[in-house]
Amino acid sequence: MNAPQTTNRAHLDAFWMPFTANRQFKADPRLLASAAGMHYTAVDGRSVLDGTAGLWCVNAGHGRKEISEAVGKQLATLDFAPTFQMGHPLAFDFATRLAEIAPGGLDRIFFTNSGSESVDTALKIAIAYQRAIGQGTRTRLLGRERGYHGVGFGGISVGGIVNNRRVFPQVPGSDHLRHTLDIPRNGFSRGVPEYGIELAEDLERLVALHGAETIAALIIEPVAGSTGVILPPKGYLERIRAICDKYGIVLIFDEVISGFGRLGTPFAVDYFGVVPDLVTAAKGLTNGVVPMGAVFSSRKIHDALMVGPENAIELFHGYTYSGNPAACAAGLATLDIYAREGLLTRGAELASYWEDAMHSLKGLPNVIDIRNIGLVAGIELQSRDGAPGTRAYDVFVDCFKTGLLTRVTGDIIALSPPLIVEKSHIDTIVSVLGDALKRAA
Ligand SMILES: Cc1ncc(COP(=O)(O)O)c(C=O)c1O
Repeated sequence: MNAPQTTNRAHLDAFWMPFTANRQFKADPRLLASAAGMHYTAVDGRSVLDGTAGLWCVNAGHGRKEISEAVGKQLATLDFAPTFQMGHPLAFDFATRLAEIAPGGLDRIFFTNSGSESVDTALKIAIAYQRAIGQGTRTRLLGRERGYHGVGFGGISVGGIVNNRRVFPQVPGSDHLRHTLDIPRNGFSRGVPEYGIELAEDLERLVALHGAETIAALIIEPVAGSTGVILPPKGYLERIRAICDKYGIVLIFDEVISGFGRLGTPFAVDYFGVVPDLVTAAKGLTNGVVPMGAVFSSRKIHDALMVGPENAIELFHGYTYSGNPAACAAGLATLDIYAREGLLTRGAELASYWEDAMHSLKGLPNVIDIRNIGLVAGIELQSRDGAPGTRAYDVFVDCFKTGLLTRVTGDIIALSPPLIVEKSHIDTIVSVLGDALKRAA
């Protein structure tokens, strides 16, 4: 199997790893060989509890036979079919099934292959829509500080992580709202924090600065995941929606992480009861098994583009693999599992146990904030002087060696287990992480 590879370091050179400190990793690699249910098995045979659903995507847990069998069967039946001026039944079946659970009734669905592509697709749809309704001057794209929207040029432009764009140019005209993390006022909040609704007024400031007639869209994560689990203050999303309505700005929720049950509801839209115009998704869409993303669109936006001569392509956009047959098969099987096992709402049943467990880490060395919602948590650590990120990284490596996969961003440890998690797994997460935090003191 894979085991000999770990002893042969030269074997690791060819793969230029994404979002990885390549030289550091290859000096002391962490390799996973197999997975089932809530656990990975490392190449040295150790069992590692998956505290992060892979990369926020394996919501139904690992090794689901129903999905692999559906994919295998599909590959043997119809391996590839174009969806440009052609079609195949599964893409329509999958879109129809997704429409049934679509966030906020946004039931027109465009397929992509990743979260980044969903984001760039949604931004382009928003600009095309504005033009279609006679608002062609609206091309400016707004995002928010500490937002993560993938790595396409659109996504990094509206994203608010400086390292993602320090060396890359941005789409002209993009700008950002302030983020909503406020530890002095909201530290150790349980669930949605109390203070900060006024931060939504930042959108008024950007409208005054740029002019509404230049702004096409605002994209935000209802709950920011990758930048350390940052929650919207009470009333914030409602206020953002109202300001977008006031100025004709298309509102996009990026639900690449929060979609498919992460918060204990099918989508964050359902959790907060605020409906945007477009929703981006990926990850849990296929349980992470086959790369796929989707954009959920309102009929208002979709229908505004279905104009002109019938033989004209309405949106000049798409990917070779939009609606790929194997991805659709994986997605349909995933939806079956979610429905049968009630996984899209299971997080709600476990949320208070999860919350208590996560907040039991309060008081451990260097823990300066704990944030949680649904089955997500962020544990923020005091950075070491002059060495930001190293403390959380040490905790991450320690946890991996003692049998728990976590995710680290800066000095924040993020947790988001598969939605099949049991209370006993939550207890293990707390005890392994707690010990690692003590050792990193
Ligand atoms: C909110 C959000 N948007 C977009 C992306 C990008 O997704 P992908 O890595 O599939 O391109 C991510 C990935 O973590 C994400 O969290």
